[in-house]
Amino acid sequence: MRSIALANQKGGVGKTTTTVHLAHGLALAGDRVLVLDLDPQGNATLATQGMKPDDATAPEGGIYDALQPLRDGLWILPSPGASRNLSPQTVPDFGRLHGLMQALEDEGFDWVVVDCPPRMDAWGLTGVRLCQHVLLPIQPEFFAMHGLSQMLETLEGVRSEHGSCAELLGVVVTMFDPKVPVEREILANLRSNLGSRLFRSIVERDPRFVEAASHGVTLFDYCLESKGARCYGELVREICYGRA
Ligand SMILES: Nc1ncnc2c1ncn2[C@@H]1O[C@H](COP(=O)(O)OP(=O)(O)OP(=O)(O)O)[C@@H](O)[C@H]1O
Ligand SMILES: [Mg+2]
Repeated sequence: MRSIALANQKGGVGKTTTTVHLAHGLALAGDRVLVLDLDPQGNATLATQGMKPDDATAPEGGIYDALQPLRDGLWILPSPGASRNLSPQTVPDFGRLHGLMQALEDEGFDWVVVDCPPRMDAWGLTGVRLCQHVLLPIQPEFFAMHGLSQMLETLEGVRSEHGSCAELLGVVVTMFDPKVPVEREILANLRSNLGSRLFRSIVERDPRFVEAASHGVTLFDYCLESKGARCYGELVREICYGRA
């Protein structure tokens, strides 16, 4: 089983959108996938609330009692913050989640994709500590490289101070508009700075992401022919099979 935490301390860079599209894309490829919503905002939970399994015979009992089935091969462990306001003192139960990861592995799950909040608080730390890999989404902005260096430093701190073994899986550019010259320039800059740590797949800006999220489904459900669905399909292939 492989586990990926979507992390970036910067807000609104596409962590949740990448979590749910990556997870759904992997499930469509035939794998068994859990979305773990570790953001008290509960956005991944809300962004998938319109999804129901096509096959009504989703397994029950054992770990499945805690999971919500979304599609064939796709489940979510919802964030408690999606249904009620959590007090700032509420922290995730690392031991229970660690046990869940083991149980998922025993149950034959292939992937766990974890949506982290835009902070390295108890929730963000738990997400990174539970996973083997960290995937960093960034927007092609002027300060992208600066924010990225801070995040890479934070990750190093989590590894040395909290016993995490999470490796950087890669950086993915989100909300890219190829028609904007400065964004093309920033992308070229990121490519030369990051080399193979930058995914070749780029997620372009597509207004349909907001529409799909408001219906509680992904673009693979809402509009398979959209630019956004194509971009995440490419990212899924790159993660599964490497660079084309
Ligand atoms: N490629 C894209 N094109 C257009 N809109 C997008 C794209 N990706 C995400 N969005 C939209 O941008 C907003 C922020 O995205 P998202 O919630 O995924 O970011 P986030 O990093 O999880 O935010 P937060 O830090 O608050 O958790 C959402 O409204 C989402 O629908
Ligand atoms: Mg989010």
